[in-house]
Amino acid sequence: MSDEATLRTAADASDFRIGAAIDPDALRSDPSYLRTAKSEFNAITPENALKMGPLRPSRDTYDFGDADAVVDFGVEHDMYVRGHTLVWHNQKPDWFQAWDYTGDQLRTFLRDHVHTVAGRYRSKIDAWDVVNEAVADDGSMRDTVWYDALGEEYLADAFRWANEVTDADLYYNDYGADGINEKSDAVYDMVEGLLDDGVPIDGVGLQMHALGDHPDPGSVAENVRRFRDLGLDVQITEMDVAFHVDDVSENPDEDQAEFYGDVVAACRDAGCDTVVTWGVHDASTWLRSFRDFGERFTGDPLLFDDRYDEKPAYDGVKGALED
Ligand code: XIL
Repeated sequence: MSDEATLRTAADASDFRIGAAIDPDALRSDPSYLRTAKSEFNAITPENALKMGPLRPSRDTYDFGDADAVVDFGVEHDMYVRGHTLVWHNQKPDWFQAWDYTGDQLRTFLRDHVHTVAGRYRSKIDAWDVVNEAVADDGSMRDTVWYDALGEEYLADAFRWANEVTDADLYYNDYGADGINEKSDAVYDMVEGLLDDGVPIDGVGLQMHALGDHPDPGSVAENVRRFRDLGLDVQITEMDVAFHVDDVSENPDEDQAEFYGDVVAACRDAGCDTVVTWGVHDASTWLRSFRDFGERFTGDPLLFDDRYDEKPAYDGVKGALED
């Protein structure tokens, strides 16, 4: 392959998808951002625009401006579009806090939300993270507003409601379940239970926020394989690679590159065909602005640096695609 090949052409040539989480403001205001997004990636997901908070200014209204901008950009440039996310306990609207709902009201509200949002993008969005982060770190069901008011049934309901209105593949998505561990065991049991109950679930999304702790790629491959053996697809949905600030390796750029390459290779080997990175370039990473993450982790976790130059991590991914 010639040096002019982009990540996107390398991915296309190996029937693989490399994606990035997208910020609609950057898309509108920064031509380099837009150019990098469309020439280097063949998959995208709105980083925040499809979450309930941004979408629902009030209980009865929707604001689809930002979400449409990102989804339409993906469709226009022939990209695979991941929708993120229909049911999550974080980034709910501010007004939600003060709402004194009954269980029935909440169930109706959530059903309408899923129907409206997933239905709007019926044939434009290729895969939806229907439920995000429903499992706690110790493997128990996470105690969220949804679980609290609706019980475990909300999971099956959400997938069924989504299935009524969209052609997209339907995913369960979570963090910290990338390799074989207590949490991924719990996710495995949960999705196996959903399948046994005939719930329309197509895949599992492994977020792969490798922040400080980097899972063993062999264990990731083994994990991908066991979900594949259940008949599910697996995608890496939110990858970024950082180090604890007080435990940075001697060659962080090279180690980051190696890990990216190893994960893409492990993923391909085990039958996963999509890796989405959580941002286009280092300047847009959530790690620099989210809570105290900026103090805890190195803030350059992506494939392009602040000036949109390709990093060793870029070559690591490309190399794994061309192998
Ligand atoms: C993050 C975004 O990147 C931030 O901009 C936002 O402030 C918080 O959420 N798991 C997920 C993503 O599923 O939606 C989160 O995205 C990162 C962790």
